[in-house]
Amino acid sequence: MSLNLKDEKKIKDSFALIGQEQIFRFWDDLNKTERSILLDQLIKIDPLECQGAWKEINLSSTPILNPQPPSAINSTDPLNSTLVSMHESGEEMLAKGKVAAFTVAGGQGTRLGYDGPKGTFSCTPIKKHSLFQHFAENLSFFTKRFGKCPRWFIMTSHENHAQTKQYFERNQFFGLDKNKVTFFQQGMMPVFSMDGKMLLQEKNQLVMSPNGHGGSLKALVESGSIGLMEEEEIDCISYFQVDNPMVYCMDPTFIGLHKASGSDMSSKAVKKLSPKERVGTFVQIGETLQVMEYSDIPPQISSEKLKDGCLRFGLGSIAIHLLERNFVKRVAGSKKTKRQGLKYHGAHKKVCCLDNNGSRVHPQKPNAIKAETFVFDALPLAHDPLLMEINRKEEFGPIKNLSGSDSRASSEKLQISRNQRWIKVVGGVVKLNKIEISPLFAPTLPYFLEQTSKFPIDLKKLSKESALIELQNT
Ligand code: UD1
Repeated sequence: MSLNLKDEKKIKDSFALIGQEQIFRFWDDLNKTERSILLDQLIKIDPLECQGAWKEINLSSTPILNPQPPSAINSTDPLNSTLVSMHESGEEMLAKGKVAAFTVAGGQGTRLGYDGPKGTFSCTPIKKHSLFQHFAENLSFFTKRFGKCPRWFIMTSHENHAQTKQYFERNQFFGLDKNKVTFFQQGMMPVFSMDGKMLLQEKNQLVMSPNGHGGSLKALVESGSIGLMEEEEIDCISYFQVDNPMVYCMDPTFIGLHKASGSDMSSKAVKKLSPKERVGTFVQIGETLQVMEYSDIPPQISSEKLKDGCLRFGLGSIAIHLLERNFVKRVAGSKKTKRQGLKYHGAHKKVCCLDNNGSRVHPQKPNAIKAETFVFDALPLAHDPLLMEINRKEEFGPIKNLSGSDSRASSEKLQISRNQRWIKVVGGVVKLNKIEISPLFAPTLPYFLEQTSKFPIDLKKLSKESALIELQNT
């Protein structure tokens, strides 16, 4: 973009006004092209949003007033007969194409030591399908059932956008209609020093970082995805993270309950394993339902116990939500410059950057603060938010770490025991080392029951070391 002197002054003034003139510290060393690279980057950044973000980051340690445990609808048994009508109404919504799937996949597999988009990481016990393929097959089940492919929105980041798209193209979208899969990138925010100054990566370039999955709401609007949903009369978004292969990508019961409650946003909750488990905790503060992130929750709240020894604040977030399209639009704000309604959190990180003299710093301890918003912070803004407690063994087996808890090994183990339980429900006893049930056959327990009644599984065949239950087995 070619900017004139007037534009240049305007941009410089707008950053000086928020106390960030240090980003022009090397201006006199830069040639014309280098200067325009910096100006091109800056013109895409909203200084007032950055100023607001920094203020909010420093406000985030305000005391939490009288939190209470929230109430939740119990859906720990996916076959609970009282929820059958909810399942049916959710299915009706799916059949009419009223629900889109949405995966936030902006993160890299850094904690996994994996160099690539996390969604390309393999996750299933026998076929070793990737997370993306596994979700695609989930959605293929619904394509077959209702005769049309649900819309699938995938949020990537600057770092993995091209690789993610190429991966889907190389794999022919795993059989999905490629016109129904939309990729868009999340926004970026400048990274701050510990005293709130924007850091430079080069003399003419700020250090930037993805703005957190809360940025997905704004990105859904700005990418035109919400507009597309309006055109196609898709009302509701089924949101899930890329790291959990056990998620029910489309859960009719959850959708039915969400619809019946008239909620703007609904969330799934599980019983936390321990006060220190690295999941957000649901709390009720006055009228509002909120999630307190594991890094922010005061220990006296997370470890408080009831008389029976259970955690008082025992419901954890597994980052599965349903969001109304119009609610997303409202929270995101329709104008580009308008601040979105989600507050910023600060994450302390080690970030390579330039010091005041232009020398590169490789820090040994955190020297910078990344500004991120979280999607669950939309809950307090939602009308009638609904919380549904589910059985964690049914739907939560995330892959986040290389080993130990929340690793591929722990997730595969959880997937296998879930599959064994499903077989038990249809009358089998399975003690196989490995069993994989393809989502093409059944993506959830209620569907598994339905499918096996149509195509009974020969349980005797499942006596080998491992078993694979796929569509073709029927
Ligand atoms: C997250 C939740 C936590 C929840 C847990 C459940 C946050 C801050 N916390 O923790 O409340 O209990 O999962 O497993 O999310 N992502 C983006 N863009 C970003 C940042 C993240 O798309 O800018 C995506 C990642 O690709 C991933 C997901 O968001 O799918 C979670 O991000 P991560 O930072 O790994 O969160 P956790 O610490 O695992």
